Order: sequence, then structure tokens, then C-alpha cells
Amino acid sequence: PRSIYLTRHGQSEYNSMGRLGGDSPLTSDGRKYALALAEFFEDEEVPGLRVWCSQKVRAAQTSQHLKPDFHTEYWKALDEIDAGICEGLTYDDIQQRYPKQSEDRAHDKYHYRYPSGESYEDVVSRLEPVIMELERQANVLVVSHQAVLRCILAYFYDRPLPELPYIDIPLHSLVKLTPRAYHCDSTIYSYDI
Ligand code: F6P
Repeated sequence: PRSIYLTRHGQSEYNSMGRLGGDSPLTSDGRKYALALAEFFEDEEVPGLRVWCSQKVRAAQTSQHLKPDFHTEYWKALDEIDAGICEGLTYDDIQQRYPKQSEDRAHDKYHYRYPSGESYEDVVSRLEPVIMELERQANVLVVSHQAVLRCILAYFYDRPLPELPYIDIPLHSLVKLTPRAYHCDSTIYSYDI
């Protein structure tokens, strides 16, 4: 059986400051995770693994130690949800500067669209071609971001849309999905870094 592996990038500088989005590089913990990920795929038998990475620096850095014979592609569609006017802010900043936005988002997180940015619903629609390809491919590792991976997991786990934006996907953990006839087996490998 083939498997789909999903991971967020390692901890970025913005993650460590609680800031949304941006394009910051990995912290030293994030770099440790990138090494641990490469080690995992040294041991795991995954013939012809394809690596699909977002176009953000933190995702590319997370995949950089993987064996060069794994074919890597960089998909813009795998970039993190665009938080528009809230990019680079913390949740507290947003609460203070744009209290109405915080409130609207809490009210309907799936449909809420950041001004000049995206909603989860928008991310789901831009991921359609990625998911179609994932359905056709053999072994794939996706290196992406929290909101994007929530959308992909909700599809494979068949979770209701209102729950999608709350699926827990911690940093430094790798999800292995093995599609079966009517469900997906999943294993989570967590790294304590
Ligand atoms: O904080 C990391 C991050 O990936 C942000 O870039 C993104 O806006 C956020 O998580 C998505 O999570 P939530 O929708 O819960 O704010």
C-alpha cells in the first residue's frame, strides 16, 4: 500500500514569536526537526517518494536534508493561508487592532476571510488540484503549513467542514496516512525537540 506523509515545516522564527504567516526561516529547533525528518526517511522504506513542498523558505529548509533522489516539487497551492491585513501579527495584536475581525473569525472560522487574504474555504478550493494529484500518486511527503494540512487531513479523514479549522496539527510531528478501501489508517510520529 502507498502512503501519504504530512508535516508542517519545523519551528520558524515567526512561530517562536507567535506571529502569523510571513516567510521567516527556521529556528535552531526547527532545523533539528529537519534533520530528524531526513533520518526518519533514511529508515522508512518508501520507494519513489515524491516530496511536495510549499514555496515558503521554512518549508524548503525543512525538506533540505532529505535524500536528493527523492524528487521535490514546490507548489504555491501549498503555501499557508493568507492572513491579509493580519499577516505578521500575533493573535493578541489582532484582538487589539481589529477586535471585530477576531470576533467574526471566532464565530465562523471556516468561512471567515481575512481582509485582503483568504478563508479556510478559499484554501480548500485552491487545494483541489493538489488533492486530485494526491489521490493518483504513490508515496508522497507533503511539507506545508497548519491551515493547509488541516484541509488535507479533513479530506482524508472525512471530517465535517466546521471542525476542519480546529484539527490539531502540532509542530514537529509527522502524520502517515495509508488509504484503505473505505477509510485511512493513520500513524503520528511526534518529535520531542
Ligand atoms: O501560526 C502559524 C500559522 O500557520 C499561521 O501562519 C496561520 O495564519 C495560522 O497558523 C493558521 O491557524 P489558525 O487558523 O488557527 O489561526
